[in-house]
Amino acid sequence: MWTPPRPTVNVHVAQTGECYDCGTDESLLKGMLRLGRRGIPVGCINGGCGVCKVRIVEGCVQPLGPVSRAHVSEDEEAQGYTLACRAAPTAAVRLEVSACLVKNFYRACANAAPAAFSPTTNQPTKET
Ligand code: FES
Repeated sequence: MWTPPRPTVNVHVAQTGECYDCGTDESLLKGMLRLGRRGIPVGCINGGCGVCKVRIVEGCVQPLGPVSRAHVSEDEEAQGYTLACRAAPTAAVRLEVSACLVKNFYRACANAAPAAFSPTTNQPTKET
């Protein structure tokens, strides 16, 4: 049975220049992970840790679930902040990784192996 191709839009991560096509029915984070791309920090993938906080600079997203006020305040939301694991693009998106995470994330990327998450628990592996 033929299925129509899923609609996708382009997502651009400003700090890294990374670009990828993301389905309009999947989160910004899952689209990135599906293609094995990097650029947005990955944590719980369930809206609970806030690690994937981004600011939508251009484009539009729709919520896929609740965004914890512990991680994104109403003021921040009004400025375009959201959680990449809780937002799906509805049009091409240019985003920035949240400023409070950029320094640590890119320092970790420079030093760490790409597989920093346990395949069984989907939690960050402990650094030794
Ligand atoms: S990865 Fe934990 S809130 Fe998005």
